[in-house]
Order: sequence, then structure tokens, then C-alpha cells
Amino acid sequence: MEDGLHTFFQEKLMEWFAASHRPMPWKGERDPYLIWLAEIILQQTRVEQGWPYFERFKARYPNVHALAAAPQDEVMKLWEGLGYYSRARNLQQTAQYVARELGGKFPDTYDGLRDLKGVGPYTAAAIASFAYGQPCAVVDGNVFRVLARFFGIDTPIDGTAGKKQFAQLAQALIQGQEPAQHNQAMMDFGATHCTPKAPACLSCPLSQACQAYQQGKTSQLPVKGKKMGKRARYFHYLVLRQAGKVWLSKRSEKDIWQQLYEFPLLELSYPASGPGEIRSSALWAQLLGQQDVQISRVSPPFSQVLTHQKIYATFWEVELPPGASVESEQIKPEKQENLHNFAFPKIIDWYLKDKSLYLELI
Ligand code: ADE
Repeated sequence: MEDGLHTFFQEKLMEWFAASHRPMPWKGERDPYLIWLAEIILQQTRVEQGWPYFERFKARYPNVHALAAAPQDEVMKLWEGLGYYSRARNLQQTAQYVARELGGKFPDTYDGLRDLKGVGPYTAAAIASFAYGQPCAVVDGNVFRVLARFFGIDTPIDGTAGKKQFAQLAQALIQGQEPAQHNQAMMDFGATHCTPKAPACLSCPLSQACQAYQQGKTSQLPVKGKKMGKRARYFHYLVLRQAGKVWLSKRSEKDIWQQLYEFPLLELSYPASGPGEIRSSALWAQLLGQQDVQISRVSPPFSQVLTHQKIYATFWEVELPPGASVESEQIKPEKQENLHNFAFPKIIDWYLKDKSLYLELI
């Protein structure tokens, strides 16, 4: 049964590929230098965007020696706009290594290719198959998606078990196939047909045996296991007010919210136990010293979810008596009526707009 499914997959994929030719300047190319060049350009880059860059690099540096001998500034200029500039630096370093240490000849094995700077498992498999016809299956996001759906595999693709399972399956499927065609077909099928959102199932030659399609699960596969653990950060803001003014500071550290304004911030890795903890903090001592001032109110915790962190913010409000002063160069008093002129993080905007749920402490 399994072999039957493998054969069905291989045959239908190639049928699809034959009918869905997508012309690209590196297709059918056998020169390992040009294939390597194309694959480095295509890392983190869409085909449409990478295409003209490949053409320009190929015209300017038709072989590895030309690229190795080029001035670095010229290579960087030609790369301009592609982003991830370490790729351009690695590109030239690898060209120099191949030109000088390997006599201009690219390694012709997967392992040899993997030793080159900037060449990971995907790129090595692509070069080994396209340039040398070796049966090395490429495995990337497209391949995970196609295989997870067709074979109905719900093992998370980002775990060790999943990676191994999908790599083995991808490797089994390239057996007996023409490696370059098969890999290119997998890439193109994933990129243009079996897409993450709205895959073209109705016109898909594989749908009759596609587990995800048959079970109505295309949108649930592939499964990503590890929900990126978000770092919890507890921000305790001192809202110091006096005579219609409130003290603000500007975020300048290399962190979230650079250049935005906020109140004086005490960051802890846990929620504070109560006002006593705030009043005995170093921040309090630095700003208010030994002055006899009280925290009058505290907000409920506000939370904001960012890509990799979850921020909890509590606002500790202090009404400073007329004689009290705040010691700081970075923190400045601003008129409350002017607060709308300052750019704040969302969580502070929410607080400023919120007028409820405050705990009166005195
Ligand atoms: N992305 C990376 N390599 C590719 C290739 N050879 N064809 C299309 N897209 C790609």
C-alpha cells in the first residue's frame, strides 16, 4: 500500500510538473557555480525578486574566478536590495575559497557542499541534485507542507521526530526518480499549487489520494508543535504627577519600543508583591530618595502580546505634594494636557484611556 501511494505521488507530481512549467533562468542549469549562485540568491527571497539579481550576477561574474576577484564593494552594490547581507559576504568568501583552495572546482558531494560557508542542508541537496544528479531530497517549508498534507502526517514539523520523519519520507520519494526534476517539482508544487493558504485542491491531480483533502484537514496541516515560548516581562511604571504634570522618559536601549515614551520603568521578572516592593526599589530611591511620598493608586495589570514576549504592565500612581522633587536627567515633567503629542507603546495608550478598576491605596 505504502509503495503504491509513493508511486502515485511520484507519478502525479511529475504529471503536474510537466503541465506546469515555470520558466526560470537556472532551470536545467548544470554548472554548479551558477546553481550555487541561484540558490544563495533564492535563500529567504522569492523567485520573482531573485530572478533579475541572478541575471545580473551571472552576466557580471560568469564563473567563480570572476566573482572571487571582484571588489567587495561591487558585490555588495550588486546585492543591494536583497537583504540579509551576510549572504553576500559569504557568497564572495566561498567563491574565493573555491577559486583559491579548490582550483575553481565546486565539491561534488552533499557533504563537501555542506562544508561551504552559507550552504545548509537544503542548498546542498539542491546543488547536489541539480548539478550532479545525486538523489538528495530537498526539505524546506514547501516540502513539509506537501508531504504533511498528502500523507496526512500530523507530527509537528519543528520537532526532532518530525524533522527525521519528513526527511526520511522525502528521501524515500526521490528514489527511482530523476533527482533534479523531482526536487524542482516538489519546490514548484509547494510554492505555487499546494500553497499555505487557499491551496488549489479542486484542480489538484493528487487530491484523490491526498489524506488532508479527503479528511478536510488541509488547513490544519502541517502541524507546528512548539508554540514559540513567549518571554514574560513585568513592567512596573511609576506615574509621578505634580501640578498637572507627569514625568516621562524616552526608550533608547536596544529593546522593544525604541524611541517611544513611557513613565519611569521598574522591570521585574515577576509581578510585584505590592506597593512596598515598589517603594523599596532602586528606581524609587533614585528618583524620590527619602522623601515622604505615597503610592495613591495602582492599576490592574495590562498585557500586550508581542512576537516573542508578553508584556504585563502595572501603573503605580503617585501624587507628589507641592514641595516634592524628582531627581533625574533622563526623566522630564510634561504637561498632562500635552501627552497626546508623545508616541507611547500601545500598553501605555490603553492605560491612559482607561478610567476604571483602580485600587485606591490611600
Ligand atoms: N527556491 C530555492 N531554490 C529554488 C529553485 N531552484 N527553484 C525555485 N524556487 C527555489
